Amino acid sequence: MASPEADDSVKQPAIDSAGGTTTSEPPDTARRFRDISVRGRELRIYEHSSLMDPQTGRALTGAWVWDCAIAVAKWFETQSWPPGSFKGKRVIEVGAGTGLVGLALASLGADVVLTDREALMPGLRTNIQANQLEERCRADVLEWGSDASHLFPPVDYVVGSDILYDMSLVPALCKTLLDLSGPNTQIIIGYELRFGTTEAFQIMREHGLVSVKVDYDKLHPEWRSDDIGIFIIRRGEASPASRKSTSEDEMPNYNDLNVLSKT
Ligand SMILES: C[S@@+](CC[C@H](N)C(=O)[O-])C[C@H]1O[C@@H](n2cnc3c(N)ncnc32)[C@H](O)[C@@H]1O
Repeated sequence: MASPEADDSVKQPAIDSAGGTTTSEPPDTARRFRDISVRGRELRIYEHSSLMDPQTGRALTGAWVWDCAIAVAKWFETQSWPPGSFKGKRVIEVGAGTGLVGLALASLGADVVLTDREALMPGLRTNIQANQLEERCRADVLEWGSDASHLFPPVDYVVGSDILYDMSLVPALCKTLLDLSGPNTQIIIGYELRFGTTEAFQIMREHGLVSVKVDYDKLHPEWRSDDIGIFIIRRGEASPASRKSTSEDEMPNYNDLNVLSKT
């Protein structure tokens, strides 16, 4: 199974957002950061391009803020989510990388656990501290497919951004999404359209995860693009692998399903 960090199809983020580097450190260790505001609160997200995968020696994909994470975080400040929607809600972010999505939700009042592989933990903890969100947010290791009982599921929301890029990882990711969720959990996944993305949603459906695409015009008007989408996913009936693959046209409209209703 190929390591996602060795996947050349995963390119660095392209959306340009405010950023810079800390000046008090030498260039080779200088930490780049992005300042991204969510509902009026500026979040400082440090990127850690010097973080290497100990197995491959290559930079970790979670070292940067991906465009998709910005699109998801900014969606949370749209009218789809009235103020207070996340207050006191339990949230787990999977494949958090630098943690922008989960940190945005913590800043909106949720109790959040940012999860990823062990190597990403120092960077996630730096970003929690940088935004003084220690009371609402912590980081913990969660390798997809492995035991998740230490995170005390089910939670209200499971969130993830740009985690559908290596189809060999999707079955393990599905197990994790199912382990973390109950019948009332909303799973929110942002994706960047790449080769295989449609297949990923088909694999999810085979695991009983029903996806509903958020309408493009519901996304943040300044932070959306044709190749970035957001899906709301719930547990449903598993469909046999033999069924024809899911295309985006077959996705029901999320307003029809009232998926944003409070539970
Ligand atoms: C493309 S990055 C996206 C990071 C972040 N969510 C964002 O959008 O900025 C994919 C993330 O998934 C994580 N990831 C990949 N495979 C994983 C696995 N098997 N278990 C846990 N995390 C994994 C990577 O470490 C990385 O942080």
